[in-house]
Amino acid sequence: MKKTPQAIVILISGGGSNMAAIVRAAQKEAWAEQLGAHVAAVISNKANARGLQFAQGQGIATQVLDHTAYGSREAFDQALAAAIAQHGTPECPPLVVLAGFMRILTPAFVEQHAGRLLNIHPSLLPAFTGLHTHQRAIDAGCKFAGATVHQVSAELDAGAILEQSVVPVLPGDTQDTLAARVLATEHLIYPRAVRTWLAQRTRRAA
Ligand code: GRF
Repeated sequence: MKKTPQAIVILISGGGSNMAAIVRAAQKEAWAEQLGAHVAAVISNKANARGLQFAQGQGIATQVLDHTAYGSREAFDQALAAAIAQHGTPECPPLVVLAGFMRILTPAFVEQHAGRLLNIHPSLLPAFTGLHTHQRAIDAGCKFAGATVHQVSAELDAGAILEQSVVPVLPGDTQDTLAARVLATEHLIYPRAVRTWLAQRTRRAA
């Protein structure tokens, strides 16, 4: 059976290691053949995001939308939405994957992409929404930390939870050592969450 092509658009601001993990999983697990899905584009709000080079090396379309060039958050989000929409169709709009994308999105953008907008947050939500999650987990004396893949809703870091990973907080941990331990697990759960989402859409469409 021919599958409806499903585009994935990944938004980054920096290193892009989660984006790279998703791209590699797509290749290794043959998402194109299995799910009709492909990473169509990587969009960054920063021209110097290191992840752009990786994406270009993989032959993936990249685009920089510098948020400082827009007069308002709304204007930037409208341009972003237009850039994303180019990669899908009205019948099958792209899955939008936030991977270290350091921008708060407007309610209008979130509403427009509701149900197909995923994020990864480096904490065990609902604990430690916002920034500096690892230091806050250490300061709170947590014995465990982790990461959460969730649907994005209008409230920050509060949408439905899709996947979580758990790691121990070890004696002597700094925010950097803990962040590295958590990040390694992000690279496992984010591709899995994306694949599950795509498979569910494929099933719904069948
Ligand atoms: C990850 O820890 C992610 O959870 C957080 O920012 C970091 C991004 O890392 N939102 P990378 O750009 O995917 O390497």
